[in-house]
Amino acid sequence: MKIFVDSANPETVEALVPLRIVDGVTTNPSLLARESGDPHETLARICRAVRGPVSAEVVATDADGMIGEGRRLAAIDEHIVVKVPFGKAGVQACAVLSGEGIRVNVTLVFSPAQALLAAKVGAAFVSPFVGRVEDIATDGMDLVSRIVEIYENYEFETEVLVASVRGPAHVVEAARMGADVCTCPPKVIDMLFNHPLTDIGLAKFLADWDKAQAVRA
Ligand code: E4P
Repeated sequence: MKIFVDSANPETVEALVPLRIVDGVTTNPSLLARESGDPHETLARICRAVRGPVSAEVVATDADGMIGEGRRLAAIDEHIVVKVPFGKAGVQACAVLSGEGIRVNVTLVFSPAQALLAAKVGAAFVSPFVGRVEDIATDGMDLVSRIVEIYENYEFETEVLVASVRGPAHVVEAARMGADVCTCPPKVIDMLFNHPLTDIGLAKFLADWDKAQAVRA
């Protein structure tokens, strides 16, 4: 499973790239709004750092506007994936942009039916929002499982990108279900590394080693 960083902060992405576990980045208007400077420059810098798919979302709300904005975003860098919100306008824009060879991530997906329609118009990625589904007391990972099942039935090439991830359990469940990508906030990536028994074990190994060295000295 690919791991994307869910962040629009170039320094954060640049710090994670050397770990070699990051395959791409997702941004959204809320994340980009937190960053200073020109958003296109920010996206270009993230693309240079990660050299994998970087989702950049349109803010137009009509199909023509999304198509024009999508073309401008795609021109920033070959790694840009244009993100469009699910809906009739987003589906139309996805069909046109995908037809031009521009990869599209259909976002704000909350039902298997929406994911089916996104795949039919050639989306490169579909983004079910598991955390936000769970915020309304519904099973977010069941949504992912249903989308994976539907895509397998018809061999759609659209990749299932699990978004709105809140913790390591979402990442593990996404991998068990065979999701293609999980996009993780930086703090969740940190959590994936952490286990108290690893820390306790390492401290004991080093203490035992130091004790033996002291006896030999
Ligand atoms: C990524 O593509 C999404 O925009 C992001 O994961 C949404 O996360 P949130 O629900 O925590 O805002």
